[in-house]
Amino acid sequence: MEHLRIALQKSGRLHEDSIRLLKDCGIDMNLSQRLKSSALNFPLEIFFLRDDDIPQYLEENIIDLGIVGENLILEKERKLKIKEKLGFGRCRLSIAVPKNSDYQTIEDLSEKCIATSYPNILKKFLDKQQIQADIHTISGAVEIAPGIGLSDAICDLVSSGGTLFINGLREIETILKSEALLVASQNIKFPRKSLAERLYFRIQAVKRARNNKYVMLNVSNKYLENILNFLSGEKSPTVLPLADPNWTAVHAVIEEKNLWNSIERLKAYGAQDLLVLPIKKMIP
Ligand code: PRP
Ligand code: ZN
Repeated sequence: MEHLRIALQKSGRLHEDSIRLLKDCGIDMNLSQRLKSSALNFPLEIFFLRDDDIPQYLEENIIDLGIVGENLILEKERKLKIKEKLGFGRCRLSIAVPKNSDYQTIEDLSEKCIATSYPNILKKFLDKQQIQADIHTISGAVEIAPGIGLSDAICDLVSSGGTLFINGLREIETILKSEALLVASQNIKFPRKSLAERLYFRIQAVKRARNNKYVMLNVSNKYLENILNFLSGEKSPTVLPLADPNWTAVHAVIEEKNLWNSIERLKAYGAQDLLVLPIKKMIP
């Protein structure tokens, strides 16, 4: 049987969250294999690769899908399709300098040397700002370059800031913001194409679930109208009688990003006994 092939970052910022996403999609896998693992309950092969190599493998149809940072997609400029923003792996590509140096702005880096694994993005940025600087491309451990005298500054990814801190560096400019993307090869063939569609469907159900919460509340009937007006969706909310005939229970799905504002409004409208529950999957 033909298997769909997906590549995940083998170690680093996206590794854990990528595996968690597949698990939430119901994919069981054996994680003891280091380079390649087969899902136990879906025709899927999981490759663990350097994230930097994933765009090229997709373009060359060696794999069908990949989870990588937007930063790499912009840098590598490969022919591939972006399917989904995944909402994790948020980070920024920044220029940083030794913390005790005099450099304050990118103008101060004119005629200086900047080490990076992102030469394309950096060059475009510097050209736009009309700054002439020497770009020194290295493939890893960029953060040690200033310390060993290889460069005056770096341009690298920052997420927690821990790597910069440990290496005595400070950010002076953010070039772009990034998050993990699900990307696909441009030309996935049947029957892998239909397996990919099945996986997209599951990923969307998981993403929707992660972005929403299930809220249950009780309200005195005299305030019910307010609550229903506030929560009104196409078919929802769910309205249920309580043991006390003067009271009603209302259940609704609320977007995570508005959750606390919505709760404050619901309280103000007369809601009581609120419960907020996570949703596992949300399927339209
Ligand atoms: C990036 C970057 C830094 C680290 C920054 O590596 O190169 O090493 O993350 O994260 P922090 O601010 O939380 O310390 P990435 O995960 O892309 O791995 P790679 O550079 O080895 O491919
Ligand atoms: Zn990388």
